[in-house]
Amino acid sequence: MPPISVSARRGAPEQTDADTRVVPLFEGESLDDPALQALVDSGEAGSGSGKVAVSHQDGRRVLVVGLGERDALDAETARVAAAAAAARARELRTKSLSWAVPDGFAGALVEGTLLRLYKFDRFKSGDNDDDNGVQSLEVAGEAVAEDEVERGRIASEAQNRARDLQNLPANVATPVFLAERAAEIAAEHDRLEIELLDREAIVERGMGAFAAVAQGTYQEPRLIVLRYSGGGDGPHLGFVGKAVTFDTGGISIKPSAKMHEMKFDMSGGAAVIESLGAIAQLGLPATVTGVVPATENMPSGRSMRPGDIVTAMNGTTIEINNTDAEGRLILSDALCYAVEQGVEKIVDLATLTGAIIVSLGATYAGLFSNDDDWCAEVDAAGQATGELGWRLPFHKEYEDLVKGEYADITNAPEGRKASSITAAEFLRRFVDDRPWVHMDIAGTAWGMDRSYVRKGASGYGVRTLVELAGRV
Ligand code: BES
Ligand code: MN
Ligand code: ZN
Repeated sequence: MPPISVSARRGAPEQTDADTRVVPLFEGESLDDPALQALVDSGEAGSGSGKVAVSHQDGRRVLVVGLGERDALDAETARVAAAAAAARARELRTKSLSWAVPDGFAGALVEGTLLRLYKFDRFKSGDNDDDNGVQSLEVAGEAVAEDEVERGRIASEAQNRARDLQNLPANVATPVFLAERAAEIAAEHDRLEIELLDREAIVERGMGAFAAVAQGTYQEPRLIVLRYSGGGDGPHLGFVGKAVTFDTGGISIKPSAKMHEMKFDMSGGAAVIESLGAIAQLGLPATVTGVVPATENMPSGRSMRPGDIVTAMNGTTIEINNTDAEGRLILSDALCYAVEQGVEKIVDLATLTGAIIVSLGATYAGLFSNDDDWCAEVDAAGQATGELGWRLPFHKEYEDLVKGEYADITNAPEGRKASSITAAEFLRRFVDDRPWVHMDIAGTAWGMDRSYVRKGASGYGVRTLVELAGRV
């Protein structure tokens, strides 16, 4: 899919060269153009959010798109409406699309459009209809803000690139492939640097938990570290993302039915890598270190076994009672490494537990935190981007569940009680009491059914990380 060119134009929206223009319709308001107002009067066009009616003028198309009440308009409504318009425009074979933007919503319109038009069809021979797709998006208005448009474009393009990494099969998107993608991003930006640790360096650094997961696979693991120094006086942020490029479960092997979906078990890592690219592209005044442990989790003659005891980088000993609870193992060392780099506030993203899908579905990610203020900031960033989170609790009794029989802690507490929470409780042991939020994205990383992100990989988290780096 070739990139869609995105532009902002200051001026009268109706004076566009685009073949299709979009006119917003608000509840209780009428349209200046009598022909379009006739559509409203007949009920064909409506102000209900996301409702689309099609008209024609001078050989061009006009879409009248409902945005609800003007006073209640928010970014999410704008994304949903943009997605509805984009989907209809694609059906109509639109090549150039122009939105008459309500003030303040240019970024959200760009996001809704670019995210909705994303496709992953590079392995489909034949029926790929690239040439028929929407090629340009213009956002027009007397007060349109160019920087909002740029921000929306860069963040959404990064999210779509994260979706590409997610959708790529595990035989292509290996740990080394992810490392190469990160290196490519680093090479594009002066203020972004990369460090890669290979298997030997991982072992040598004392990352016994990460090394244990990686020992079962022939694919070479990588610890991917991206450092962005954009200045400013905000805290040093640490973004940590789980990247298990394929999770079979290891010796505690998973059932085969949905195992193919475990190519998505690197979604947190993809979000971290691509968000750093976007942050650098935007030149945000922030300091961010991204840490992504990347490996497969495979059964083999040299895999870790249930009952094995390993030592993480901070000296904590871990009893591995289920080799399928591998995410927390690799994250433990990645969090320690981030702490060692001096990060002051941490967010990690991980497709960590099946239980979070049962709890929150594909609508909210689970949030877990040791710091109310930092959690509120991350939560607020998620509300701004539409990537919602819901906080779950910590409690002394959950702490006890994580205790090991033969080692300090176990990676798989008995009976899977509060499984998402005990996974977070496990991670908490590795953040050195720094303000930290864990986002369990197992439910939201793919299979969302938000109108602008449907089915397949969602790229969940990219825009929230970019938003956070822009806020602190
Ligand atoms: N990657 C999985 C979690 C997952 C499952 C994500 C389904 C998305 C869809 C993770 O590594 C895992 O296997 N977790 C186990 C932990 C358990 C063994 C303690 C789980 O949640 O079942
Ligand atoms: Mn697993
Ligand atoms: Zn996993």
